[in-house]
Amino acid sequence: MKTLVYVLFLAALVSNIVYTAQSIGEYKDVTHYQYAITWAPTYCKYLIEDHCVPNLPDRFFMHGIWAGDASGRTVDNCRVEPPIPIGVLKKFEARLSKSWPPIIQGMTAFRLWGHEYRKHGVCLKDWTATNYLNFADRVSLNNNITKLLETNGIKISSTVKYSRGAIEKAIQTKIGAGFSMYLGCQQVGTLYYLKSAAICIKKIDDTKILNVYEFVSCPQRIDPNYNNCGGGKTEEENIFLL
Ligand SMILES: *[C@@H]1O[C@H](CO)[C@@H](O)[C@H](O)[C@H]1NC(C)=O
Repeated sequence: MKTLVYVLFLAALVSNIVYTAQSIGEYKDVTHYQYAITWAPTYCKYLIEDHCVPNLPDRFFMHGIWAGDASGRTVDNCRVEPPIPIGVLKKFEARLSKSWPPIIQGMTAFRLWGHEYRKHGVCLKDWTATNYLNFADRVSLNNNITKLLETNGIKISSTVKYSRGAIEKAIQTKIGAGFSMYLGCQQVGTLYYLKSAAICIKKIDDTKILNVYEFVSCPQRIDPNYNNCGGGKTEEENIFLL
């Protein structure tokens, strides 16, 4: 994350030079959005250079809403936007501090929201920062995946392991039976520790104000960071939720 902060700093100074070094996504490639969340206990335990905010509750935290293409990769940096005006950020401060707080020490909420909007949010075509932040707040509040796992019997434990299928089933009770999602794990030997998840959504209605959306099945994607839990052995009970 220090690197990220540094890149953001550089980007502010010489935005054009840094920008051209990034991949530039195109709106036409966007097929869905990904609601990306981080399981704080495992994510924080395995951070290398940075530290998490102390005493975080054991739950998922929203990472962001990302645009994705037909192969499941994110589509980023579709246009260059100036920083979100401070007045806009302040309007969201009270709401988003609950639904979307930063979990890395030293990362301010405004910087997190601004970074996610300028990298990912700009690929939600024609959406302003206000549209994006409203949508993020709505999706986070209405989709408490921590609670969903709990109510479906997937609980934090240092002794009980779960199969990828069991975790998926719990989440599918909300998004739809058989729908694919991304589950990211920290692998330790033959064990996997759940670290992140993403579920895929699609806007049904293009009016930005109503924010009407539905869940869709995520495109198939093998990714060492975002979709590696269980290493493909879906029915083996080898995932810990710590
Ligand atoms: C979601 O549910 C969990 C468990 O019931 C709760 O601790 C948490 O505060 C809720 N809200 C968010 C944003 O995760």
